[in-house]
Parts: sequence; structure tokens; C-alpha cells
Amino acid sequence: LWWLFDTLKPTDATLETGCGFSTIIFALKGTRHTVISPIKHEHKLIRDWSAANGVDLSRVTFLAEKSESVLPIWNDGALDLVLIDGFHGFPVPMVDWLYTSRWLTTGGLVVVDDTQIRTCGILCDFLRAEEGRWTLAREFDHTDVFRRLDAPLLDDDWNAQPWAFQATLDRVERRPIARPSPAGLLDAFPSMKRLTRYLHGTLFGRHSGR
Ligand SMILES: C[S@@+](CC[C@H](N)C(=O)[O-])C[C@H]1O[C@@H](n2cnc3c(N)ncnc32)[C@H](O)[C@@H]1O
Repeated sequence: LWWLFDTLKPTDATLETGCGFSTIIFALKGTRHTVISPIKHEHKLIRDWSAANGVDLSRVTFLAEKSESVLPIWNDGALDLVLIDGFHGFPVPMVDWLYTSRWLTTGGLVVVDDTQIRTCGILCDFLRAEEGRWTLAREFDHTDVFRRLDAPLLDDDWNAQPWAFQATLDRVERRPIARPSPAGLLDAFPSMKRLTRYLHGTLFGRHSGR
């Protein structure tokens, strides 16, 4: 939150999925800010707290929607910073990233929170592996910040994405592991299995006698 406070400029256009403390930071810095989260009561709590503490929300737009529903049709212009911190279940962090990053200016930042959660972690694994499109700008314990570079994001297919391409190679290399394990092979030869058990018991003193 302190990093966000130090980084934001009043001239920035920003968007977050989810809301909470971060919303107050955006409001305090006076960015033109969009909040997308489905629970109206959270918005009311933020409005009430802001009113009680003199925080100006006049540049904050609250959309009481699920991000995965509204982002595909959201078109309120270029963004300088996006915070992804809404629904963390698969594949919503990726959906949030997909539909916000196309509005991100070159040099703009995407902040992915809760990287300890597998879904957010996978998104960050992908972005960390990217070459020429994204670069890791900051790293905190559970938060990664990526800068969008000057290149189209989705012009090239999977084989131009280091994360997708490398994982595919790994899968090909892992294929032999799918063969029956040695233990599985023994099941096909009962006498061999009995002998193995006997020897194991003799050597390690745990022969059951069966
Ligand atoms: C981890 S909290 C956000 C914390 C906030 N950034 C802060 O600094 O306190 C997750 C938020 O996601 C919202 N949320 C849940 N489902 C959502 C969805 N489908 N789309 C957008 N936001 C969602 C919740 O209502 C909640 O506000």
C-alpha cells in the first residue's frame, strides 16, 4: 500500500478488481479510478469511512459487478496502473489480466496481489517468463508488479510465449513417467512379487511371512 501511495500520480487513470484499503489509497492520490467488485455493502463501507475521514471519492467510480462479467465490455479508456486483487479462483485473475492489460499504456503497471495463491502465482509465472512484452518491475512477499513494454500482447501464438513453450517441452519430456512404475510391473508377475517381498523382509527385518 505504501508503494502504491508513493507510485501513483493524480494524473493517472487506474483500475482495481476487488476493493478495500487499496481503494482508499487510490482515492487519496486522486487518480481517475475504477473499482470493480460485486458486493455493494463493501462500497458503502468505503464511502462511509471516506466521508468520516475527509477522503474525496469524487474521482472514484464503483462498479458493483463481477470483474469477469464487466471487464470484457469495459471501455473507459487507457490505464496507467491496474491492481488485480478480486476473485482469486481460477481463471479469474487471468481474465482480469486479459481484459485490463489491453487498456494499459506502454510503461503502465499491473499489480498482481496474493501471489502465494496458485492462480495468481501462475499468472505471475507467465508474466515473469515473458520477453519483450512484460518485465518484472517490483516484487514484494505476496505481490508482483509488471511493466507493460512496447509490444503487442497477443499477436503471437503459444510458441512465442516462453512460459507456454517451455512448459510444453517439459510435458513432452515428462511423458515416460506415465509408463507403469516398477511396482506396477511386479503386479503382473506374482511370483516375482513374493520373492521381492521375501528379500525385502530378510534385508530389513519386516518379512510378514505371507
Ligand atoms: C482480497 S479482497 C481485496 C483487498 C483490497 N485490495 C485491499 O487492499 O483491502 C478481494 C475483493 O474481491 C472482491 N471480489 C469477489 N469476487 C469478485 C469478482 N468476481 N470480481 C471482482 N471482485 C470480486 C471482494 O468483494 C473483495 O472486495
